Amino acid sequence: MNTLTDPFNRKINYLRVSVTDHCNYHCQYCRDEDHQTYTSRDEILTYEEIAKIVKIFSELGITKVRLTGGEPLLRKDIIKLTTLLNEIESIEDIPLSTNAHLLAPMAAKLKLSGVNRVNISLDSLDSDRFNQITRGGDLKRVINGIDAAIEAGICPIKINMVVMRGVNDDEIESMIDFAVDRNLDIRFIETMPIGIAGINVVDKHFSEADIIQRIQSHLPNRLSVVKSKQTDGPAKNFLINHTNSCVGTISAFSNNFCDSCNRVRLTAKGRLILCLGQKDSFSLRDAIRSGINDDEIKLLIIEGINKKPRRHDFDTALDNISSSQMVEIGG
Ligand code: 5AD
Repeated sequence: MNTLTDPFNRKINYLRVSVTDHCNYHCQYCRDEDHQTYTSRDEILTYEEIAKIVKIFSELGITKVRLTGGEPLLRKDIIKLTTLLNEIESIEDIPLSTNAHLLAPMAAKLKLSGVNRVNISLDSLDSDRFNQITRGGDLKRVINGIDAAIEAGICPIKINMVVMRGVNDDEIESMIDFAVDRNLDIRFIETMPIGIAGINVVDKHFSEADIIQRIQSHLPNRLSVVKSKQTDGPAKNFLINHTNSCVGTISAFSNNFCDSCNRVRLTAKGRLILCLGQKDSFSLRDAIRSGINDDEIKLLIIEGINKKPRRHDFDTALDNISSSQMVEIGG
């Protein structure tokens, strides 16, 4: 098995693929209030092009491919893509990140086509608050989507909650209870200053240390540290003893966030983004559409990984951060 290693000796085994930059939600921290998407069909990678790129990455050592968006379930016939990816031999893991609005009728088909697990964004269990944070989201539909995924046997299912001070931080405990009741995992995410929307929520930042303290006081002596797998990346995870649930945190500001980075990101338009917090990227779409062969594409990818930045500059240089909205990058 080949391995892709960057200049800082980080093993890159994880590719995040945004399949569309359209989203049916408009989350405060992800997308600027008046942000609209106008991307046309021919600008975005076809399923065949995505599968070709993933196949090449798999030959270089990528084993995990997460589908993101925008909202990935908005892309027509997404099952065609998951089926194509599932046929690539060394891809072991095809998780999906979704807001679950459209998940209920698709859950069983996704599972059958190889989507072994899903991450679901859920920032509040109060429907009015949920509607405000997502600017129009429907909590009931999302819960139906979660229940359909459980019913379909997709496992694990992870709830992602972006914690914002004064907005939803009072729900850390109820969100843990919700996850434990349904045998789900739960991850609390610190806000990240990506794009205007992300920068706008910087003042609502709720630190990982504060989140962990709240988790610990809610679950005294009930957490066991989970050793992370190679493809896990920078999250901290704990098993909640006597339950089937794990609770985790992800912090863009903690020191080890970048040291354990194991990923690159492919946008819907086919740009390979080498770091979430820097501008470095290049177009793989233009490369494959120019007709160069697979070996040449492989070399381009290796060259790109050789330029992967050491770390983001969230805390020192906000203007270095990609001017893209998170909705285009997919988290
Ligand atoms: N800060 C932290 N997390 C974010 N996400 C999107 N934008 C931000 C941000 N500014 C997360 C969402 C979703 C994942 C795909 O990305 O919570 O779960």
